[in-house]
Amino acid sequence: MAKVVGIMTTSHVPLIGKAIHLGLQQDPYWKPFFDGFPPIREWLEKVKPDVVLACYNDHGLNFFLDKQPTFAIGTAATYTSEDEGWGIPTMPEFPGAEDLSWHVRDSLVRDDFDMVTCQEMSVDHAFTIPMALLWPDQKWPVKVVPVCVNTVIFPLPSARRCYKLGEAIGRAIANFPEDTKILVIGTGGLSHQLEGERAGFINKEFDLQFMDSMVTDPQWATQFSDLDLVEQTGNEGVELLNWLVARGTIPGPVRVVHSNLHIPISNTAAATMLLEPV
Ligand code: DHB
Ligand code: FE
Repeated sequence: MAKVVGIMTTSHVPLIGKAIHLGLQQDPYWKPFFDGFPPIREWLEKVKPDVVLACYNDHGLNFFLDKQPTFAIGTAATYTSEDEGWGIPTMPEFPGAEDLSWHVRDSLVRDDFDMVTCQEMSVDHAFTIPMALLWPDQKWPVKVVPVCVNTVIFPLPSARRCYKLGEAIGRAIANFPEDTKILVIGTGGLSHQLEGERAGFINKEFDLQFMDSMVTDPQWATQFSDLDLVEQTGNEGVELLNWLVARGTIPGPVRVVHSNLHIPISNTAAATMLLEPV
């Protein structure tokens, strides 16, 4: 049977990709952020997941103001990195876990989630940077399932709905008949706002409370509306919705394998957590 072996959540600031490209991991600006990852890579060596199911938001690559699904899932055989800038080289393509994608997609639709099914899909920094942080040699030892959440056009899916999507993904995984170890990742956040009068806004207190709630009270953030979340976390801080989808996939308690918060990376409170079911 398939099983969620862990949840890894992390910020996905594009500048991280440039720092990786330039080898700046030990630079004083970057070290406190990159130091969050060796313990996670040790865990990966031990647990060896077969598949990464990635919950993230597409930043205009597949979906923009013209077409914006609330929830979408990739069912492609491969995914290519086509991120938008910094002149960094593209990455090796990511092999899709096609059978699992279709299984999760079918199960979600039967569970009343109106997923947009994407048989062709490219991936941006919200997907590629977390993968490069997990496997710096970029020789992907896993197949992938991308799940996208609208964090761009308001109203957004509610935090409550995102958590429920995670629960439904968890049920789908539990019913997948093949022995498959799945690492669920949730990317984006935590607090940041990239434009407007509040550009540069960060709310460390809220971020710490949210990170704590991922362990002690995973539905805590479902009390907030999308606009409440903008107020508390900034316009782009709403990407924490992806963390909530990821957290919903483990129904019971979790333990913290590793956790890191460093402020700021670019405009963002950069946070990373690795959680394991208990
Ligand atoms: C930044 C953060 C993001 O989440 C993003 O998608 C783009 C930029 C930033 O802080 O620079
Ligand atoms: Fe983002």
